[in-house]
Formats: sequence, C-alpha cells, structure tokens
Amino acid sequence: MKKKQRHYKDPLRQFHPATSVILAGYRSGLSQFSVKPPLFRTSTFEFPNAKAGELFFKRAYHLDGDDGQEPGLIYSRLNNPNTEIAEDKIVAAEGEAAQALLFPSGMSAIATSIMALVPPGGKILYSDPVYGGTYFFFQKFCPDRFQIEAVPVDSSHLKLVKKKLELEGPFDMIYLESPTNPTLRLCDIQAIARLAKKQNPKCLVAVDNTFMGPVFQSPFELGADLVLYSATKFLGGHSDILAGVALTKSKELHRKIQDYRTILGCTVSPDTAWLLTRSIETLWVRMQRQSEKAIKVARALKKHPAVRQVFYPGLISAKDPEQKKIYEKQCKGGGSMISFELKQATRKAAFQFLDALDVFHLAVSLGGTESLIEHPRSMTHSDMTVEDLDRAAIGEGLIRVSVGLESSEDLIEDLSQALNQIKV
Ligand SMILES: Cc1ncc(COP(=O)(O)O)c(C=O)c1O
Repeated sequence: MKKKQRHYKDPLRQFHPATSVILAGYRSGLSQFSVKPPLFRTSTFEFPNAKAGELFFKRAYHLDGDDGQEPGLIYSRLNNPNTEIAEDKIVAAEGEAAQALLFPSGMSAIATSIMALVPPGGKILYSDPVYGGTYFFFQKFCPDRFQIEAVPVDSSHLKLVKKKLELEGPFDMIYLESPTNPTLRLCDIQAIARLAKKQNPKCLVAVDNTFMGPVFQSPFELGADLVLYSATKFLGGHSDILAGVALTKSKELHRKIQDYRTILGCTVSPDTAWLLTRSIETLWVRMQRQSEKAIKVARALKKHPAVRQVFYPGLISAKDPEQKKIYEKQCKGGGSMISFELKQATRKAAFQFLDALDVFHLAVSLGGTESLIEHPRSMTHSDMTVEDLDRAAIGEGLIRVSVGLESSEDLIEDLSQALNQIKV
C-alpha cells in the first residue's frame, strides 16, 4: 500500500484542522478497507520491477531523471507508510500548506534541521531561555563542531531583539520558543520575523511550537519558515513515545532536511509513527480540555500564600501590557503549561513541596494525560551555567507544571496541601 493524501469528493472543501487530522493521510481502499491504518513493520519494500526501483531512487535522491514526483516505497530509513501517514496528519493539524518530517525525538528534529539549514560559520539568534537540550546544542555543539555562533536574547521584549539585531546581526537563523521553556514568556513572532528578514532576507525563522501546539499557535501564519515540535509532548500526548517533527512551507528547505535525515538515519520506527497517528486524532480534545483545567490551576496557585508569582499565558496581568498584547495577537488559548515561583525561593523549600505531592508525577517532560511537575534549575535546565540560569530567571524557587486530564479540583487540592507543607 502506498499511502496517498485522502481525496475528498470536493477537493476544494476546507475543513477545520480538528476534522482534517482525522481524515488526512490514509485511504482505507489501499489497505483492505481497514478503517485504521495497519502497522507496516518492515525495513524494506519490494519494487514492482527494476525500472521502477531505478526511478524511485532517482526521485528519492534527486538524481538526473527525477520527475519531481514522490518516490515509491523503498526502505524504511527513507520512507514508510506509517511515517508518511503521521506526517500528513501533522501537516493537516498545522492547517497550512507545508511538509512534515518525522524524527525519533524533538532534539533530533531540532539538531538535524539546524545542521541542514545553517552553514558552517553561520549565526543564530535564539530566545533566552530555551529547552535545556537546545541550549546545550547551541552553546556546545554549534560552536565546537559547526563553527556556528548562537547568541541568546530575551525575546519577550521586542526592543531587546531589535538592539541585538542591530549590534550583532545579520543572522542566518532566528530560533524562537514562545512561550519559553520553562519561564513561559511570549515573544512577538511576526514582529521578530519581519525585523530579521528586513535585515537579511535569507534569514530563516524557526519556531519550537511544542508548548502551544498547532491548537493554540500557528507560527507559519506569523512568518515562520520552520516549525519544530517535540512530538514526545502534546502530539504524542500519552508520555509513551519519543518523537520530533520539522515542518517547512518551502519544498527546498524540506528537501535539505530530508537529505540529512536519510543520511544521518534519524528516522522513527513504524510503531512510533502508528502511535503518533492515533494520538494526533485526539489532539484538539486533549489540548483544549487540558487548557481549561490549567487556567483553574493557575488561578488557584495565584491565590496561595506560598506562591510569589504565576506564569501562565492565559493569565497575563494588565501590568504586563507587552506580553498581554502578544498573547491576544498570536495565541488561540493559554495551553496547559504553567510555571510559578515559591515565596521561599530555596531548593530545600522546592524539594519539600515536590516530595509532598500525591497526584502530580514528579517527572520531566510534558503534554501527557497525566500531570507532571519538575524543578527546572536542578532538572531540565541543569545543563545551563549558573550565570545563564540566573540571567534567564530560572531560580531555585521556580517550579514547572504540565497539567493533564485529571480533575482540576484534585490537582488544586494536591498542590495546595503540598504547598502547605513547606516548612523552612
Ligand atoms: C520545548 C521543547 N523543545 C524540544 C524538546 C526536546 O524534545 P525531545 O525530548 O523529544 O527530544 C523539549 C523536551 O522537553 C522541549 O520541552
């Protein structure tokens, strides 16, 4: 079976992405009319004849005689129906004409895309903070292995980005997280993309959209060239797979990243792609419900006397007009990631609180059905230098929460009883 984009009776008909993710990527008629896609657990595919095998390779490797068509199925490091079905569903979720490439983890999607798109000696401007693994890649691997300089900037203030561009530009890539992990600060993706491209029309704008997902933020509409996901998180949604995605609108960028993926061999297993295909169908329901619960949790945290400050995009105070304006302009909801600062901003107090929780799982990662909680300074972001942690406001009292699908009353009660147990 070679998967095809589903052919609707009316090909011009537009659907909401929540509908498209269910319809896209698979045609039952190509697989015994099985309503759900089978699992193609195979490493290689038989060619109908030698000529076809030759043509498929020409297409896959863009050799002379490539007619620009999709290659037939060759070998699962290059293509596999389960991978392609999952990729088509992710494209449908994004709701924009784009192409997706699936990877075995978010870090693999991020690192491979940067290797493919930023030249040796190039320059990247990135939001500060970013996920700890991305920080390490920028700070260590980029300069040490690829002679790429990666420059951090507090992207939550447009004037700071403007200043960095003026002083240190031009850049080959602007790499944004909005909201930032773990501080939940937003940046104006559209305004930053415009500024960067004005200075260097070839500058690529990459957005790690893991926290908001396609449900709450559409970076392509805001000028992004590359959208990245840790699909381990909301796209997977059940904390039972590792995967990553790189989406591009330009075919040329897609091809470049795809060539690196093929040759570096960072392809997902059909099993992972199958699970992801199943998960994406419930993405809207999960993310919307999780967000409804998250705002209740954020409000309760705000009222607790042991909490100094709560960071949640859906609850930005009018005292922060720049952030509020960005939220209203570019977010379709608050998501379900929250961070907050304890009044007792010590590791001891943070650990006392974390160890007292019953309903929350003390674990890194996010976006699953279960609520997770962690201490970024000693866990997800512990590979940052103390100086960089302090600059990015990732203090000892900062706690990061991923709200799952449990009852919000149980979650609030659990947080409250654990906060009450902070002694020192
Ligand atoms: C925002 C963000 N991007 C990327 C990653 C890396 O994803 P993965 O763990 O799937 O490699 C993470 C992981 O926590 C993340 O939070």
